[in-house]
Amino acid sequence: MRIVLGVGGGIAAYKVASLLRLFTEAGHDVTVIPTEAATRFVGVATWEALSGHPVSNSVFDDVHQVNHVRLGHEADLIVVAPATADLLARAATGQANDLLTNTLLMASGPVLFAPAMHTEMWQHAATRANVETLRGRGVAVLEPASGRLTGSDSGPGRLPEPEAIFDAAIALTQGSSDYQLPLAGKTVTISAGGTREPLDPVRFLGNRSSGKQGVALAVAARNAGATVRLLAAHMEVPAPAGVEVVAVETALQLREAALAAAADSDVVIMAAAVADFRPAEISGTKIKKRDDAADPVISLVRNPDILHELVELRDAAANQLRRSQLIVGFAAETGDGEGDVLAYAEAKLRRKGCDLLVVNHVGTDKVFGQDTNAVVILSRSGSEPQEASGTKTEVSAAVINRIGYELNHVSPRA
Ligand code: CTP
Repeated sequence: MRIVLGVGGGIAAYKVASLLRLFTEAGHDVTVIPTEAATRFVGVATWEALSGHPVSNSVFDDVHQVNHVRLGHEADLIVVAPATADLLARAATGQANDLLTNTLLMASGPVLFAPAMHTEMWQHAATRANVETLRGRGVAVLEPASGRLTGSDSGPGRLPEPEAIFDAAIALTQGSSDYQLPLAGKTVTISAGGTREPLDPVRFLGNRSSGKQGVALAVAARNAGATVRLLAAHMEVPAPAGVEVVAVETALQLREAALAAAADSDVVIMAAAVADFRPAEISGTKIKKRDDAADPVISLVRNPDILHELVELRDAAANQLRRSQLIVGFAAETGDGEGDVLAYAEAKLRRKGCDLLVVNHVGTDKVFGQDTNAVVILSRSGSEPQEASGTKTEVSAAVINRIGYELNHVSPRA
C-alpha cells in the first residue's frame, strides 16, 4: 500500500517514528510529509532514513514531479500524526499553504487524523467544530488518549499509541467503519501479577501468577485505543510500552492503588492473583530458628476483597460517569462432586457483583506461567457464556473486544 504520513508540529512527532516503522515493517511504501513546524521537533534526515524516500515540505521542491498533486492522488491512505489544532483547522478550511495540506486536498483514498494537543485546545469550540467538519466529510479523526501531557498537565490530548493508530489505519483501509477503536478515549486500569505478603524482611507468602495474562490484557487494551494503567504486583514478564505502571507488592498496596485508579477509570480489570490472607504480624527482623524455643506458628488475617469493594464503591457513586464503570474479575475454578465449574463461577459472579467474570478452568490445563489459556466469559447482563481459547494474547483480545462491546452496546446502569 502507498501511504502518505503527514507529521504535524507537536512534541509527539517523535512517537511517529515508531508508527512509520510499523508501516514499513508491514511492507508498506511510506512517504513522509512533515510540516515546517514538525521539522523543528524531528529532522528531515530521520524521516528520510526511516522511510527510504526523500522528504520535503515545500511545494517548490521537485516541481517537475508535480508532487503537490501526485502524492495525494496516488496514496492509498493518508495518516496525519500528530494532528495539531493548527493542522486540523487548516484541513477543515481547505487551505493549501504547504505540501501536506495540498496533498490532503488531492486525497482520493481514506484519511486518518490522530490528534495530539493540550486538553484546552482539544476541547476548544473552534477545534470541536473543525473535527466535526472533517468527520462530516468522511475523514477519520481518532479520539486522543488521556494522560500526562507535555507539561505538568494531564487529560485528553495525548497522541494515541503508534500501535493503536496503526490498527485504526489498517481497519480504515479495509473498509471498516470501526476505525473508531473500541476503547478509544477510555481509561482502563488493569491489575496483574501476584501479590506478596511479607512475613519478615526476607520472606513472603506469594503465589505462582506470572503476570502474563494481565500484561497481554494491557497490550490488547492499549491497541484498542485505551489509555492503560497497569497495577503491577510481582510479575515475571516486563510491563509493555505505552502504559502507565504503578508497582505494588501487597494486597493492601494493590487495594490502595486500585481504589485511587478507579476514580477516573472507565474500566477496571482485576487480573491479579490477590492473596486472600496475609500474616497477622510482620516481624521487623528475620525470623530465626532457635533450638530452645518452639517453632513459630504463622497466623493469618483476611485481606479485603478489592474487586468486591470496587463494585460497592461504583454502585454507591454519586456521579453517573462513575456508575457506568465496567468492572471485570478473573477466577480460577475447579469443579467437584457438588457442582461444575460454570455453576461455581456463576455463583462467584453474583457474589462479587462484577459485570464480567473471566473464568479459567483449572485442572484441564495449567494456567499459571503458561502462554496459553482457555476461558469462559460470564456476564452479569445474563447473556450466554462466551468461550475463548488460544494464546494469552488471543484470549486477551477476546476479553478486550467483549469489554468494548459491553461499553458500546449494553446500556449503562441507571
Ligand atoms: N480478588 C480481589 N481481592 C482479593 C481476592 C481476589 O480483588 N482479596 C479478585 C481477583 O483479582 C479476581 C477475583 O477477585 O479478579 C477472583 O478471585 P478469587 O481468589 O478466585 O476469588 P475468591 O472470592 O477468593 O474465591 P475463592 O473463595 O474461590 O478463593
